[in-house]
Amino acid sequence: TLDQSIRPNNLKQYIGQEKVKSNLHVFMEAARMREECLDHVLLYGPPGLGKTTLSSIIANEMGVQMRTTSGPAIERPGDLAAILTALEPGDVLFIDEIHRLNRMVEEVLYPAMEDFCLDIVIGKGPTARSVRLDLPPFTLVGATTRAGMLSAPLRDRFGVLARLEYYTESELAIIIKRTAEIFETEIDEKAAVEIARRSRGTPRIANRLLRRVRDFAQVKGDGIITLELAQNSLEQLQVDRLGLDHIDHKLLFGMIEKYRGGPVGIETISATIGEEPDTIEDVYEPYLLQIGFIQRTPRGRIVTPACYQHFNMEVPGP
Ligand code: ADE
Repeated sequence: TLDQSIRPNNLKQYIGQEKVKSNLHVFMEAARMREECLDHVLLYGPPGLGKTTLSSIIANEMGVQMRTTSGPAIERPGDLAAILTALEPGDVLFIDEIHRLNRMVEEVLYPAMEDFCLDIVIGKGPTARSVRLDLPPFTLVGATTRAGMLSAPLRDRFGVLARLEYYTESELAIIIKRTAEIFETEIDEKAAVEIARRSRGTPRIANRLLRRVRDFAQVKGDGIITLELAQNSLEQLQVDRLGLDHIDHKLLFGMIEKYRGGPVGIETISATIGEEPDTIEDVYEPYLLQIGFIQRTPRGRIVTPACYQHFNMEVPGP
């Protein structure tokens, strides 16, 4: 039967991240054999690489429900207590952006993760007392773009740490062809590779570009995604040969034109292009660092010769 969801449901359907997949397979199998729930898992890496998808696959493969929330959504300890006490034994609790949990909430999470219990304070002042409440055993799956932003005590309470990497071009091409099949859209091999090449190693971007290219194929073509149609559509979408979009361009040209290629501080870049520093650091910088277009130095970010060459610009002298 054709699966209607473009998100894979199990590890076998999940393409790429081979190390993470084979490790998770072992840990889930072992937990199942012991009839225990899986140890807590921290997934980290740039956005769009499949952290939420992996979490739902874990729940699926362990045969339990997944509850989803996020760091900023849990404002007070009581919010977390409400979520934890509503879990069924073995459930997966997925907390996205877990680095944004506040301190008070984190304190409640520690005993919950370690001993599956809640310490609740009843009353105020001299008569206040603490009561322990047992919780059902559960698996916390935390997701963050940067593991370094987690407090050490929280990070230490995860038994499984998994770093997601950028996907290769051929992995992305397979994902694109799989998604096209679900969309019942015909796509040429070379077109899939072309979209893959411009997807910044990121399945979320690959699937988004595929949707837009499919729109062009439907309206401007005969519905079939050929190499030429893909190239023309991506040109129209202002996604260049390396997948850099107009925000990447704004960032790089800002650094080149206003600051002679740096070094520039992140706050300065932020003010220049009007994007939040966190967004720049989490979304735009990791890929530009990965392809070697910018470097971090103690005095700020600098543009590299490889970047100047990509734009056919002369590398400035010292
Ligand atoms: N869709 C998005 N990410 C995917 C992946 N890693 N494997 C298969 N399909 C996907």
